[in-house]
Amino acid sequence: MDKFIIHGGTKLKGTVAIGGSKNAALALMPATLLASGKYQFLNIPDLRDITTMGRLLQMMGADVEKADQTLRLNTFRVNKFEAPYEQVKKMRASIYVLGPLVARYGYAKVSLPGGCAWGPRPVNLHIEGIRKLGAKIEIDQGYIIAKAKRLKAAKIAFDVSSVGATGNIIMAAVLAKGTTIIENAAIEPEITALSEFLSKMGARIAGLGTKRLEIDGVDALHPSDETMIPDRIEAGTFLMAAAMTGGTVKLERCNPIHLAAVLTKLEEIGAIIDVGENWIKIKSNKTIKPVDVTTAVYPGFPTDMQAQWMALMAIAKGSSIIKDSIYFDRFKHVPELIRLGANIELNKNTALVKGVKKLMGTKVMSTDLRASASLVLAGLVADGKTEVLRVYHLDRGYEYIEKKLHALGAKIKRISGKEY
Ligand code: UD1
Repeated sequence: MDKFIIHGGTKLKGTVAIGGSKNAALALMPATLLASGKYQFLNIPDLRDITTMGRLLQMMGADVEKADQTLRLNTFRVNKFEAPYEQVKKMRASIYVLGPLVARYGYAKVSLPGGCAWGPRPVNLHIEGIRKLGAKIEIDQGYIIAKAKRLKAAKIAFDVSSVGATGNIIMAAVLAKGTTIIENAAIEPEITALSEFLSKMGARIAGLGTKRLEIDGVDALHPSDETMIPDRIEAGTFLMAAAMTGGTVKLERCNPIHLAAVLTKLEEIGAIIDVGENWIKIKSNKTIKPVDVTTAVYPGFPTDMQAQWMALMAIAKGSSIIKDSIYFDRFKHVPELIRLGANIELNKNTALVKGVKKLMGTKVMSTDLRASASLVLAGLVADGKTEVLRVYHLDRGYEYIEKKLHALGAKIKRISGKEY
């Protein structure tokens, strides 16, 4: 397993290009099961999760080819309608094949994902939604088995706003008979990107980007090409890296509108932010003011940036409170940040972070994707050498992170597992 060695203390300076959105790609790739044929996706990041989704589609019979940032898919020969445990356990987003498979082929067998690194993550909303659309669903030996001749429209009101369940139900409803209404739909940009793509494929969806979607089912869809939106979490992570190191960084190929909540918070800590249509410039201030954050659904502060914000607050001048209201247990980074010298008290889903003057390099362990990002950020400012072990978590969701940080002046290098 690879690790990163980071020597902290360099201010980040320069320009970095943000890659395509992982979470948008993970929703759009399974959507290709909805219509047989050829698809070309541009701005696809080089990430392990993308490879995993590609493998899953291949196992179903799709041709999947990736060259640079272009992904070509051909779903003409899809003839297996199963997502086995071995794939789903690698990546929970595999559940996204459930809706398209049952809508298009009338059958899906998808492993239940089980828990994740930071606690339970149920899929009840996915199952209930598909059931409401008329599928017969049974749970057998850890698998969701869904069957339907043709799905029928329904009114689905989510109690909890869920990105994945909204995506799955949209993909199921676009081929269902009649008009489906989804209330309390997730409005994360990745879901809007999915709806826009499905519309290009011939789907009839009204209310894009709002919490109420009205989907007129059609008899058939057709393939279409698409360019992925920028990855807002990668962008936010680089902004925080710049803020922590006292640097000046310009992000290119990003969408500032998707980052509004994060940019407001960064201004509150004292950073100077300038934005254009597809770029953001951050100039950090010497003093990082403590700023509280509570995670919320979009357009609130993303849970996927909570760990990175905690690394930033660990060196703020004063105390701040960080609360995760989406995932109550998402705090695996806390003990590792404490090993680096942070002063954090955790009480249920709320952390009290007392800023310290200095963090100190040591060995720390990656546990999940965003927790790992927070450790890299902490390493960039820690005194001496920080070793971040098990960086395969980072490779799931950050494209060449060490190369991009290195290009901005950070002293970071990857040591391959074979070398140590
Ligand atoms: C997606 C993102 C993930 C992000 C999360 C929240 C992808 C591939 N992943 O995950 O990076 O952290 O959104 O922004 O896009 N819930 C239920 N029942 C369900 C489904 C969800 O109770 O059936 C709850 C979850 O436990 C959580 C909340 O809903 O408390 C939001 O989760 P959800 O939006 O579904 O997250 P994912 O789609 O899994």
